[in-house]
Amino acid sequence: MCTSNLYKLIFLVYVLFSGEIKCGCRHSYLTFCDDLTDLNRHNVENWTELVVGKEDGDISQLHSVDYDTFSFDKFERLTTLIVVRQIKDIKTYTFTAEPEETKLEYLKLYGNVIKRLRFTTFDNLMLRKLSLVNNEIEYIHKEAFYNCEIRVIDLSQNKLEMIEAGVFTEDFLGNFTKELIFRNNKIETIEANSLPSSLEILNLDYNNIKNLNYNVFENLRHLQEFSISYNKIQSLPGVKQFGEIRVIDASHNRIVGINAAEFNELTQLEVLDLSHNRISYPLTFNKFNFPERHPSLQISLAFNKLTHLILEDDSFRHHIVILYGNPWDCKCWAIMEKFMIDNKVKRNQCDMQYFGTGQVPYCINYACNDCTQSKVKHPNFTNTDIERFSELIKKTEGNVGCNLKPRRP
Ligand SMILES: *[C@@H]1O[C@H](CO)[C@@H](O)[C@H](O)[C@H]1NC(C)=O
Ligand SMILES: *[C@@H]1O[C@H](CO)[C@@H](O)[C@H](O)[C@H]1NC(C)=O
Ligand SMILES: *[C@@H]1O[C@H](CO)[C@@H](O)[C@H](O)[C@H]1NC(C)=O
Repeated sequence: MCTSNLYKLIFLVYVLFSGEIKCGCRHSYLTFCDDLTDLNRHNVENWTELVVGKEDGDISQLHSVDYDTFSFDKFERLTTLIVVRQIKDIKTYTFTAEPEETKLEYLKLYGNVIKRLRFTTFDNLMLRKLSLVNNEIEYIHKEAFYNCEIRVIDLSQNKLEMIEAGVFTEDFLGNFTKELIFRNNKIETIEANSLPSSLEILNLDYNNIKNLNYNVFENLRHLQEFSISYNKIQSLPGVKQFGEIRVIDASHNRIVGINAAEFNELTQLEVLDLSHNRISYPLTFNKFNFPERHPSLQISLAFNKLTHLILEDDSFRHHIVILYGNPWDCKCWAIMEKFMIDNKVKRNQCDMQYFGTGQVPYCINYACNDCTQSKVKHPNFTNTDIERFSELIKKTEGNVGCNLKPRRP
């Protein structure tokens, strides 16, 4: 009896002692804990901002977590929780709390190896931001955000291949989400009606999207920023329904043509970035007559395949255009410059520098091209020649020391 108590005591001393040497928590501008197991050794009721783990943490020591790991009801004042490189599996009902029991506003899991977000991983939470960046997430259950109201969800740097219907829509995740960020995943497919109609910002940069169905965006009447750069799309989906859109960034894709007339009704549009695509048809912007607006609409057609443009007087009037990086026909470009002055087209300062410095080439002497015809004629130049020119001038981007990207509002 007595010996067994002694053993218990020795064990307890050992645990406390070794625990204090190896890891623990300390208070600084935030509270830092080395490991999730440290949490139950402290009285946490007054903690407000907590970081558990660190970026170079030991990957072999990851935990499977459940409700008891965090027990949010103990953290009466916690507003921010960041968990770095600690988790390998999240059980159902892990991040859950009654709204009156928690003040949590920011929840960030970073560098964990989560793979699957199960049913009710997040339950009943009201958050300003849920950041799940870089957690090797492959799959999200339809009810992973069960009954939550989350303003911003950032799922960048994961391994998602698909945005499935029902995950982010109002059935389970209240109609509350304003911003969804999916940068740097492997998304190929977006199912119809998979995005909430409350959405204002959607970022799909750096994925593998080839096709976008019109019906994916049908309900997004409040969308203000749509970014799909660095994908493989060949056309933009119907944009007509984006009545409140301010920014469209479809740069670095494989777009060959757009229906420019569709943009005429998007009265809030401030940035249309189509740079680094494959637009070549000279009549592409012929039916574009977007009304004057303040601040001016910025249109980037930099680094496409245009030899010339056939425009109506109003096509670009009062807007700011960025046109460097196309295989312009030198003769047509001279006509274009005069056209822009006559029709009050504004030039982007950086773009002007590219055309004006003489340091970088900007046109080709095709000689027999007719600048008023949409059929492009350049018998003495093969497509390979033009491709080579394009590659050459791509390397000049950055040479002039200014940024050709349109400025975001
Ligand atoms: C938490 O704060 C309250 C009020 O400031 C104080 O009375 C209480 O002792 C604190 N609890 C801990 C564990 O520090
Ligand atoms: C969701 O919210 C938006 C506005 O934020 C509203 O227009 C839409 O009708 C709502 N949808 C549902 C199903 O409540
Ligand atoms: C195209 O090249 C041929 C042979 O080099 C030359 O005779 C002809 O004048 C060139 N045509 C134009 C329009 O430059």
